[in-house]
Amino acid sequence: MTQDELKTLVGQAALQYIQAGSIVGVGTGSTVNKFIDALATIKDKIAGAVSSSVASTERLQALGIKVFEAGEVDELAVYVDGADEIDNAGNMIKGGGAALTREKIVAAQSLQFICIADDSKLVQMLGHFPVPVEVVPMAARRITRQFEALGGSAVLRLKNGLPLVTDNGQHILDVSGLSIADPLAFESQVNQWPGVVTVGVFAFQKASICLLGTADGVKTLN
Ligand code: 5RP
Repeated sequence: MTQDELKTLVGQAALQYIQAGSIVGVGTGSTVNKFIDALATIKDKIAGAVSSSVASTERLQALGIKVFEAGEVDELAVYVDGADEIDNAGNMIKGGGAALTREKIVAAQSLQFICIADDSKLVQMLGHFPVPVEVVPMAARRITRQFEALGGSAVLRLKNGLPLVTDNGQHILDVSGLSIADPLAFESQVNQWPGVVTVGVFAFQKASICLLGTADGVKTLN
């Protein structure tokens, strides 16, 4: 099976966790796009979605799914999103699509985080994929030096030769060279640095369940 077919498989498998009449938390990325396509097939059975990005909102609306603001909804039963890396405990690196801040916000108001990913994303220890960190631009240089002190190397993410601007008007640093043995401690530490909006390690908002696409079908990790 191709990676694209594995993404389709897990996108469809996530439908089993969607309750009739509910508002569904929806993440961002190419795997989530497959989930959104699958969700459209049951759109008459759900009330709508809370989305984590402008891109997902546009896709949901184009398929006729009503999108609510996060603030209009108290609690979501389920949030479905992809990951750049996930370990066996459900800790993740996210933000490859620059949507990490809203992803963490919607995940935080959800009872269950269903991660959908192909099996290339499963790792023993987080850190091979550069950690995305959303930062207030004026703090980027100092935060870069703080990562250097931890042995990391931070690079400003560019788009068309200019700093990428997130949906929240901020910049992204991609930090390589880190071995994240203790994801909770790492997330806590970096969260405290002034100017950090969101660190792309999801340990406090880790996955409750991971649907992993493999050559032998969907494997459920929980
Ligand atoms: C976006 C994300 C995505 O979930 C992550 O990058 C995985 O994306 P894809 O499904 O395209 O591999 O965190 O900010």
